[in-house]
Amino acid sequence: MIESLLEICYLIASVTFVLGLKLMGNPRSARQGNLIAAAGMGVAIFGTIFLHEKEVPMLIYGLIGLALLIGTIAGWVTARKVAMTKMPELVSLFNGMGGACAALISLIEYPNLKNETGSLIAVLAGLIIGTVSFSGSIIAFMKLNGSLNKAIRLPQYNILNTIMMAVVLGLGVVMTIVPELNNSVNLYILLGLAVLYGVMFVIPIGGADMPVVISLLNSFTGLAAACGGFLYDNKAMLTGGILVGSAGTLLTIIMCKAMNRPLSNVIFGAFGGGNSTGAGDSAAGGTVKDIQISDLAVLMNYSRKVVIVPGYGLAVAQAQHVIHEIELLLQSRGVEVKYAIHPVAGRMPGHMNVLLAESSVDYDKLVEMEEINPEFSSTDVVLIVGANDVVNPAAKTDPSSPIYGMPILEVEQASHVIVNKRSMNAGYAGIDNPLFYNSKTSMLFGDAKSALTSLANELKNLG
Ligand code: TAP
Repeated sequence: MIESLLEICYLIASVTFVLGLKLMGNPRSARQGNLIAAAGMGVAIFGTIFLHEKEVPMLIYGLIGLALLIGTIAGWVTARKVAMTKMPELVSLFNGMGGACAALISLIEYPNLKNETGSLIAVLAGLIIGTVSFSGSIIAFMKLNGSLNKAIRLPQYNILNTIMMAVVLGLGVVMTIVPELNNSVNLYILLGLAVLYGVMFVIPIGGADMPVVISLLNSFTGLAAACGGFLYDNKAMLTGGILVGSAGTLLTIIMCKAMNRPLSNVIFGAFGGGNSTGAGDSAAGGTVKDIQISDLAVLMNYSRKVVIVPGYGLAVAQAQHVIHEIELLLQSRGVEVKYAIHPVAGRMPGHMNVLLAESSVDYDKLVEMEEINPEFSSTDVVLIVGANDVVNPAAKTDPSSPIYGMPILEVEQASHVIVNKRSMNAGYAGIDNPLFYNSKTSMLFGDAKSALTSLANELKNLG
């Protein structure tokens, strides 16, 4: 009876995971999807703790309760405090914790295995994938928060990484098929090698390529959790793991497409975003002209069509509310206004969508890159706010550029291009942007929030 109740809990959890994921596919329902999946996870956790036939000492319940309390407080406080711009590093850290949990399950269950090849494979695969995900995510976290801001590359790192991957997988296979080599010493050697491989895998990657790696590590964690689900014959863990694994893989493929990088390069370490080491790597040079806020207000006020390109700087400045105000002001004057959304603008997938949703921008106004690019030629003014790499034409014209081949927003097709940023500094990829020197471009220097607030005031004065 208890067994069946537990199975029902897992079934409910699995259904909520699928439903939650489906709802997360749309910004309008994403929050609800997240809550539904979290509630399902709660049902699975409490079902596992309370619905079983074995006697469990009170001490164990106490320890589980304490662990849940610490985890809940730590997760709640961090998630509430984190700034939107720091979200990718938090995702990396949480993902690393998931990988570590999967690896720990393997370490704990290994001594309990009884000559079953299926379970041994699940344990070793969970250990390898979870550990690589853990150590790789920690390096990604350090890179994103700036404590490790260089892409460190050993000579021939591609070959070294491939050899290292072969050694890790080879040891796993050998432990599975040669019983004499299947022992705890080798298990801990495997653990050490997997930690090292995770570090070697992520450490050379730099420039604009981190998002792809993070979503790939995310899919690793899902696979590692699925191994745990297989081991325990736990349907909720299996479904959850497979969903995370496949969603992460799909996201990786979408990101690779958006950045025009083949997936095989990510896996085999040839990936690296070129030598994006700092501002001015491919100095474009030329003259830069700037524009006064009053002139910009007049220009926009009398335009037919304005496209706003939001980027990372909009998030840093927290200027999402004032940009929405400008959009509404222009609309009230009969100007058509849209937002151009690049798939990797900002620092996490969907960053701009989430940011603009905070200020209640109508979702229908957010237009994806493929759809908006043909519209730029009929646009009077493009207002770029804190975006840089995603509008860098070097991606199309300069084969030596680290972002060469990445599809970009083709803003230079518009009649006027206005770029708001604080300086001539580079963006995430660390390279100069020839767009700033284009004859159609005018720079509006300053923090996005204060510059846009002044622009909104000027527009009100014109009205
Ligand atoms: P970036 O190329 O990073 O450029 C952002 C620009 O915002 C900077 O040049 C900066 O110039 C400006 N800025 C910063 N603070 C500002 C403020 N307070 N007010 C006004 N401007 C400000 O951003 P992007 O165009 O959005 O491109 C994203 C990049 O990040 C891509 O290379 C992408 O591959 C990478 N990336 C993306 C993700 C995901 S998944 N979206 C994750 C990790 C990395 P100033 O300093 O001169 O102001």
